[in-house]
Amino acid sequence: MFSKEIYRSRRKALAASLKGKGGIILFLGNSEAPLDYPDNCYRFHQDSSFNYFWGLCEPDLAAVIDLDNGDEMLFGNDVDIEDIVWTGPMPVLKEKAEKVGVEKTAALCAVEKVVSEAVRGGRVVRFLPPYRNQTKIFLHKLLGIGFDEMGLRSDPELTKAVIELRIVKQDCEIAEIDAACNIGYQMHMSALKAMKPGILEQELVGLMEGIAISKGSMISFPIILSQNGETLHNHHHHQILTPGRLCVIDAGAISNTGYCSDFTRTLPPSGKFTPLQAEVYTIVSDANNKALATARPGISYQQVHLAATGVIVEGLKAMRLMKGNVDDALQAGAVGLFMPHGLGHNMGMDVHDMEDLGEDLVGYGDGTVRSTIPCLRSLRMGRTLKAGHVISDEPGIYFIPALIEKWESEGLCKDFINYDALKAFYTFGGIRLEDDLLITPDGCRLLGDKRLPITVPDVEAAMA
Ligand code: GLY
Ligand code: MN
Ligand code: MN
Repeated sequence: MFSKEIYRSRRKALAASLKGKGGIILFLGNSEAPLDYPDNCYRFHQDSSFNYFWGLCEPDLAAVIDLDNGDEMLFGNDVDIEDIVWTGPMPVLKEKAEKVGVEKTAALCAVEKVVSEAVRGGRVVRFLPPYRNQTKIFLHKLLGIGFDEMGLRSDPELTKAVIELRIVKQDCEIAEIDAACNIGYQMHMSALKAMKPGILEQELVGLMEGIAISKGSMISFPIILSQNGETLHNHHHHQILTPGRLCVIDAGAISNTGYCSDFTRTLPPSGKFTPLQAEVYTIVSDANNKALATARPGISYQQVHLAATGVIVEGLKAMRLMKGNVDDALQAGAVGLFMPHGLGHNMGMDVHDMEDLGEDLVGYGDGTVRSTIPCLRSLRMGRTLKAGHVISDEPGIYFIPALIEKWESEGLCKDFINYDALKAFYTFGGIRLEDDLLITPDGCRLLGDKRLPITVPDVEAAMA
């Protein structure tokens, strides 16, 4: 938890950006999510906007900011002896509220009264788009809103104001993201060192997840680790690591204060790339480095994406898998056959930061227009960069047989793709290389103290 001044100033900044709009802002924290019976729950994770403004990471809290008189109020229940038997003694809500600079507190049920009074008085009740069913049920009970219209009834002005605050990271947040990246570094380096032919993919998954838990709170998303790296988010880990193949590992951690890391490396289980693997791999690492060299304030991440994917087209042309003019190929979206996703996404308290608030608002809310070109249209963050933005840089090259066959049968981009040459790549797999970037006043830097090995020689040396 940060100091109470941080949370106070964030709430003040939010209220200031909605100045003159009136009404109340209703924040709902997350509840427990049961795994199989009500008392057996997944690890609790607080809603990130609630955490950002109110700092308390425990279930069943709500909060209100009254935009007309500036009042702030936190709602939650104190434990009684029945709970204490199971949980041990807990500070009362008043003490917790004090730590995050809130003076007024009440039991959770009192939020109903505050909201219904506001509704009766004809005041606007502003809330963020809910993404958990428990939250939707609570909103339904409080406001009588149908489940299908919840997103539409959420408040766009509030949503935009929250995004504009959260998207520029404060120094205290950057320190936490660096810490999350340092955990991610340890996770990936441990997998790199433990990788050898004959073990199961899931052994590495367990090793990495254990480190996330022992150093932070948990993984920032289910670990992606597979020799079938051409499947972008492959969560099947049943295969035996085999010499001659490549293993994509995409994983990160959440720090104890709720900030994320997200790294991908692609490793040869034998410790040595084949010459062909090294050739494709180097195109991807060059594309990753191109983004690192290009990203700076004032340039849009769309432009950075185009610069990085230009490197991919150049490289695939040199391998005679693509042909034609690079810019024309990019405008035609031909690179989308090899990289069906965008270069990156916002990061922070969520690994895809604030996408619960709307991917377009988060990625394009500054007026940048999302492209319709394949590949570029999948870019989740296209904004013009500002110091304090945190983004992933994750180019990839994948050989996806079903996609290649579909494109070929439809004659897509045949002026730019040598379909015949691709037949030899149907069992190649995929390569993705992902780092996390902080935009600085004059450029960008990698987050975390150390960079995971990324060049062919560095990976092979680290694995030796
Ligand atoms: N880990 C998911 C992603 O890289 O976007
Ligand atoms: Mn990732
Ligand atoms: Mn990512």
